[in-house]
Amino acid sequence: MQNLTEEILKATKEALDDISSCSDIQSLRKISSVYKGKESKLYKILTEISKLQGDEKKFIGSCINESKEKIDNVLLQKEQELKISEYEKEESEYLDITLNKEDKKLGSTHPVTQMIQKIVDVFSLYGFSHVTDREIETDWFCFQALNMDVDHPAREMQDTFYIEENHILPRTHTSSVQIRTMIKAKPPIRIISAGRVYRNENQDARHSFMFYQYEGLIIDNNISIADLKSILTQALRKIFENDKIDLRLRHSYFPYTEPSFEIDATCMLCQGKGCKVCDFKGWLELLGAGMVHPQVLRNVKIDPKKYQGFAFGGGPERLIMIKNEINDTRLFYENDLRFLSQLKKL
Ligand code: DAH
Repeated sequence: MQNLTEEILKATKEALDDISSCSDIQSLRKISSVYKGKESKLYKILTEISKLQGDEKKFIGSCINESKEKIDNVLLQKEQELKISEYEKEESEYLDITLNKEDKKLGSTHPVTQMIQKIVDVFSLYGFSHVTDREIETDWFCFQALNMDVDHPAREMQDTFYIEENHILPRTHTSSVQIRTMIKAKPPIRIISAGRVYRNENQDARHSFMFYQYEGLIIDNNISIADLKSILTQALRKIFENDKIDLRLRHSYFPYTEPSFEIDATCMLCQGKGCKVCDFKGWLELLGAGMVHPQVLRNVKIDPKKYQGFAFGGGPERLIMIKNEINDTRLFYENDLRFLSQLKKL
């Protein structure tokens, strides 16, 4: 019996020494299976117990249980210690990718995109639905259907880059969307569209080979110039966030409208008194508009005796330039963040 208790003590000490010198969870698991498994010394002693009698058997049995319990407790404690130290190690090595958050600047949509969104939102208040269409057009949709036949001199105002075959060209204005819409939809029609247009222009402060336009169209019964003036006045007041703006319609010429107008707004920088921006006129030229020409309606199979309408078109850049007193369109396309991030008033 003396021998057995000594063996139990020895086996227990061995196990406890191994556990305490263990430095990672994986080797602890191995040690645990060695000391708890059937190959362990304690298990072997347990098998000898059957040879003992009465009190002796009881005593050795309880010694083994006590030893197993001790080993289990120490294993559990060691496991917790190792888990904590591994967690602490992982945490100290953890790479926090959110660091230096202050240095990263958030991007934003381009001012022209923001202005187009504003135009679309404002006109939607008056029942205009937003439509988009292709930038590569045919000669018919861009010119002929808009009353500009092949030799029409008005084409000279909008020279473009022709692709000889199939009469395909990059659209010179968004007015082609009017034709695309009227061919598909029946009146009443109320649409607003915006996008890129292309012209064969020399680059200077006021001209660019690519720029943006917005285009509006209403076709319905009993539409008059009064409707044109009233809707555009209300919409432009909302876009400029200025209720004092009035509109002035100046006679102009577009082959696809009759009568045609150049629309001027009260200069919002001097409230119509006259300043450098409005050339001391008190008015700023904003967009072109007019009553849709009966021939255009006939071209898209709408009866001009039953339906009338008005159309308008202009550049979103012009609206931003007025609000921010900018005098060079090229700045919009140079992608200089110092310029783009200054444009707060849209
Ligand atoms: N398409 C014209 C341009 O590019 C703008 C315009 C004028 C559009 C009169 C219209 C309109 O719809 O009725 O200069």
